[in-house]
Amino acid sequence: MEPGMERWAYGALWAALAGSLALRAARRALGPGRGLVLPLALLAALQSLCRACLPLPLGLALAAAAAGLLLWRAAPRRLLPAAGRAVLVTGCDSGFGQATARHLDAMGFQVFASVLDLQGHGAQELRRSCSSRLTLLQMDLTKPEDIQRVLQHIQTHTNSTGLWGLVNNAGFNDTIADAELSPLGKFRTCMEVNFFGSLELTKGLLPLLRSAGGRIVTVSSPAGDMPFPCLAAYGASKAALSLLMDTFRSELQPWGVKVSLVLPGYYKTGTTCDPAFWNLQKKQLVASLPQELLQAYGEDYVEEINRQFIQFMKVAVEDLSAVVNSITDGLLAANPAVRYYPGQGLGLMYFIHRYLPYFVRDLFLKGFFINPKLPRALRQEHHDATKKA
Ligand SMILES: NC(=O)c1ccc[n+]([C@@H]2O[C@H](COP(=O)([O-])OP(=O)(O)OC[C@H]3O[C@@H](n4cnc5c(N)ncnc54)[C@H](OP(=O)(O)O)[C@@H]3O)[C@@H](O)[C@H]2O)c1
Repeated sequence: MEPGMERWAYGALWAALAGSLALRAARRALGPGRGLVLPLALLAALQSLCRACLPLPLGLALAAAAAGLLLWRAAPRRLLPAAGRAVLVTGCDSGFGQATARHLDAMGFQVFASVLDLQGHGAQELRRSCSSRLTLLQMDLTKPEDIQRVLQHIQTHTNSTGLWGLVNNAGFNDTIADAELSPLGKFRTCMEVNFFGSLELTKGLLPLLRSAGGRIVTVSSPAGDMPFPCLAAYGASKAALSLLMDTFRSELQPWGVKVSLVLPGYYKTGTTCDPAFWNLQKKQLVASLPQELLQAYGEDYVEEINRQFIQFMKVAVEDLSAVVNSITDGLLAANPAVRYYPGQGLGLMYFIHRYLPYFVRDLFLKGFFINPKLPRALRQEHHDATKKA
């Protein structure tokens, strides 16, 4: 085959792809939050491979199929209508929950928004900015009586509409420390809110969700998939939650209930980015540690972890729309994704986690997130001091 002809053929393919993408961008008809850089780079690599190894008709057909797949993925998602559908969103005092409740209300959903504090700033804000369709419900997920009250309310107030969706968004973490330094009670609290609370609520609502063939969208975390340093209590509870939802996804498939997980990157929400909150947590942690443990690690070790975490907060993203769009897609897309990864850098992080050796994974997470200094008992200066004494 003539090399010139080959160049023309592949060039025409790229021109058709670029034209089609430009047309869609001009019509604002590209899917929300779908990055194109990586797929385009992969397509370019595949095309080079096809050119080098395959005869023109076969190589061109393969590259065209890949370009078609890319265009299909970049297409806007077909969403079901929102009007008349009822949905419960938990943890709407702040952050993703509040932004999602507001967005779903504006789309025409009948929103039940649960908050910890009915008189708090978040609840006031929702009252002020949302339609009369939105109902605020008080619920602490660690209190079974609160969960039962919400279940009763939803059952009696969705007679005419049924319940289409549950968004398990509420979540909790107040500990940044090695697993050994994190008190057992902190692991329990994380499990109570993030795992048992969501489990009890989801089980309670399943009869309604099953009869509607509805949706469950749960906000978990990449910290439940990877061993982020100093996030053991939170990460373990999110790992349990992700696995539970994956199991529900498989078991509820015959009932027509679709289950999605949203695994966001790092966003500025609630107390997650408040240095004063984290400084207070650090002080309380140091005060609660047994002397022997504090001696082994050193107070400066805990200080340094906290300093690095507060530094890390600076990369948190303020625009929550990618997460809100993922939750909305999970509720309304004809074929929702099993997992959504809104946020920057998650593709690279998951690639390293899945395909590279353990020591590279650990180094990456330390470099990206928190890289603790050596505990006091392992430092040379400590050995020298004990030798002299
Ligand atoms: N922000 C991130 O970067 C990020 C990343 C990955 C995953 N996530 C997850 O995203 C979800 C939403 O968090 P967010 O970032 O939007 O933070 P947020 O603003 O703190 O929202 C968490 C919500 O859960 C509520 N909550 C806490 N404890 C509760 C309890 N016992 N019962 C009921 N509700 C409770 C909070 O109420 P108060 O405001 O009154 O405390 C708040 O409304 C969480 O599941 C979180 O783990 C967040």
